[in-house]
Amino acid sequence: VPATAEDIKVGLLLPFSGVYAALGNDIEAGFQLGLEQFGADSGATFEVIREDTEVKPPVALGRAKKLILQDKVDVMAGIVSSGVLGAVRDMVHGAGVPLIVANAGNDEATGAACSPYITRMSFSNGQVNRPMGAWLAGQGVQKVFTLAPDYAAGRQMIDAFTTGFTAAGGEIVGQEFTPFQKTQDFGPYLAKAQASGADAVYVFYAGGEAISFVKQYDSFGLKADLPLYGAGFLTSPLYVNAEGPAAEGVITALHYVPTIENAENAAFAKAFTAATGRVPSEYAVQGFDTARALVEAVKAGATDRDSLANALRQVRFDGPRGTLAIDPATNNLLQPIYVYETVAGEAGLTQKVLAQLPAEADPLNGCAMPAVTTN
Ligand code: BEZ
Repeated sequence: VPATAEDIKVGLLLPFSGVYAALGNDIEAGFQLGLEQFGADSGATFEVIREDTEVKPPVALGRAKKLILQDKVDVMAGIVSSGVLGAVRDMVHGAGVPLIVANAGNDEATGAACSPYITRMSFSNGQVNRPMGAWLAGQGVQKVFTLAPDYAAGRQMIDAFTTGFTAAGGEIVGQEFTPFQKTQDFGPYLAKAQASGADAVYVFYAGGEAISFVKQYDSFGLKADLPLYGAGFLTSPLYVNAEGPAAEGVITALHYVPTIENAENAAFAKAFTAATGRVPSEYAVQGFDTARALVEAVKAGATDRDSLANALRQVRFDGPRGTLAIDPATNNLLQPIYVYETVAGEAGLTQKVLAQLPAEADPLNGCAMPAVTTN
């Protein structure tokens, strides 16, 4: 290590408890693997300080303040929930601390509330769901009933799906939002879907809620008559085997599946499985790419908050998802979307890619990107 070695303090803000705890753990596992793989020859050391958001926006805001003001981190990474991202956005932007978003899809953070300090290595809610609306209409599905948890991500994912689906001629025949983190019994909502006259159901659920939802959808007896579609977090490889046969045949859209065929993905999947015993999920790759983006920014000469923010926006590399680049207009990540079906494989459930939808930049959604001005 050269004498000028930098010590970069990283605040890792993730849910380690609550409905998204498994997602936080998977992001962290990917992040650590990325730091090990890419950081070794960077000449820098990375000190990681982890804080639990508990998937609660006020708690997360307190933890973000602690990382920024007390620990004086150079950069923050993480955030799973769109609600948490919405809560910490002003603090991060105002303090001028670069934040690499490793999951939360909140469209506002790369839209009306965009910031040169906020860069995404994950996805936006609109990006995943809008093209799936058009694809599903193209399959001849005409009438859809939608369901999602009642918070920013659920609302934005369903809005984007609805935009894509109705523009392609589809009709939304009913829509319900379920209390986030509080709904145990989806039965009353499933009864409404069944009575709605829909040809299919489209949902967003993730983590613990996805497991309950997919199992209840099957045991309610809906799967045969009313095919289930959604944003691909629904059947993530992280928890699809906990859903079991109930997940078979469900078709969803996502920016990463472990069955993508390229050399980077093969190497990543091998290393991630060796480290964790699991197949990598979208959460794992987001953590891995977040670490890689950070290391690349440091290798490009960035050392403090402002130079890191500027360098992060210019990061570009070929990763397990293919060629990644940041859209300079919004700081969202440009990437293709995969439509996949969950099917039985040799060792449990796996992801069969049905279609690759081309990378499309999100609309500006009110983003007028300011320059990095503080020092
Ligand atoms: C979100 O809140 O943005 C989110 C949470 C879990 C999976 C995907 C998105």
